Amino acid sequence: MVISLLCSPRITLMIKLTIILLILSSPISAYATTNHPHHPFKSVYAFGDSYTDTGNTRSNTGPSGFMFVSNLPYGATFFHHPTNRYSDGRLVIDFVAQVLSLPFLPPYLDPKADKSSGVNFAVAGSTAIVHSFFVKNNMTINITPQSLQTQLSWFNKFLEGKGCKDSYATPRECEAVFHDALIWVGEIGANDYAYSFGSSVPTKTIQKLAINSVTAFLQCVGIAEKGRKVCGRSRPTTNRVPNVVHVSRSSYRRQRQRRVCRSANKQSDTHNTILKAKLNLFRKQFPQSVIVYADYYNAYLTVIKNAKKYGFKELYKVCCGYGGGTYNFNYFNACGSPSATSCANPSQYINWDGVHLTEAMYKAMADAFVNGTYSQPPFRSLLSKKHSSG
Ligand SMILES: *[C@@H]1O[C@H](CO)[C@@H](O)[C@H](O)[C@H]1NC(C)=O
Ligand SMILES: *[C@@H]1O[C@H](CO)[C@@H](O)[C@H](O)[C@H]1NC(C)=O
Repeated sequence: MVISLLCSPRITLMIKLTIILLILSSPISAYATTNHPHHPFKSVYAFGDSYTDTGNTRSNTGPSGFMFVSNLPYGATFFHHPTNRYSDGRLVIDFVAQVLSLPFLPPYLDPKADKSSGVNFAVAGSTAIVHSFFVKNNMTINITPQSLQTQLSWFNKFLEGKGCKDSYATPRECEAVFHDALIWVGEIGANDYAYSFGSSVPTKTIQKLAINSVTAFLQCVGIAEKGRKVCGRSRPTTNRVPNVVHVSRSSYRRQRQRRVCRSANKQSDTHNTILKAKLNLFRKQFPQSVIVYADYYNAYLTVIKNAKKYGFKELYKVCCGYGGGTYNFNYFNACGSPSATSCANPSQYINWDGVHLTEAMYKAMADAFVNGTYSQPPFRSLLSKKHSSG
């Protein structure tokens, strides 16, 4: 996510969007056939952006503002070497894997990885809206070409490799992939807002298209479970995007910059509210599935408000950066570059590199989702239901 860079001096302007968890078959009946009470799920398939990416991106392929993810001090806290995660250590998805007693999810693009317990399709810089939309509207600065569409096509390839092909004749192979699987749709869409920032495309348009993309994505995955191929192979879901009328850029940009900076929180709030309503429709459409909504936005606000309790001393200053001052952040000397340095105690910081969070913050967020009240329905109740039915 790059949005913060554009809103100086407050560099930690973050769009905080929803995390969605999907359990496609009924968790209770599914559990009855599982032998391991400590493995409520056999596998996890994750999608999202840099907040979820466990290594599909490297220094030379990631967003240009954060080009050093393959260097230390990325990874220094937990792994003690860079793993191409945008943090000093584990991400929310890593803590979730640990809660489920599963190995850390390997990145899809690692051909040698053991993918028997799941795959991570998330890519840093990824958008919800299909890439061609940004190209068409001249929003190609600092942008990775992968979108949720790309991740879906990777999932398709993965399914094909497992024999879950485009045919009703192979439900067994599909069942093998989806049975007792958790689909984790990490935060996605923040980059869409960031990339469109300063362009002539209205925020409302981005909102609509981003939410449509996520909804279409969920629908595709929901349908895939029924033995059909994940849709969206040939036709991008947001194929018919309007070419937005170009208005005078410079004045528009200034105006938008003020507005966007001020209303980032409101924007995430609205986005999440709309998405939540869509999820309710989706629950009706797929009554066999359990859909958990993880409230990233309010979890984040709660941690910030109770920072001391979590051991945080720096709410906004960047741990790994350059230049000191209030934020210790300099775009041209980003974390991992030769001139940037890491703070001594990352666990006292919320912000790792200017946009991404420290392991300590990701743990606090994971705790809010897993143990706290920020998942609806509560994640724990889901797990205990699976346990008791076993
Ligand atoms: C994009 O840029 C090209 C070349 O500068 C211009 O012709 C075109 O009108 C622009 N399109 C939009 C949607 O702004
Ligand atoms: C949830 O709570 C348990 C028990 O207090 C703790 O061991 C675990 O680390 C917590 N999970 C997360 C993700 O923080």
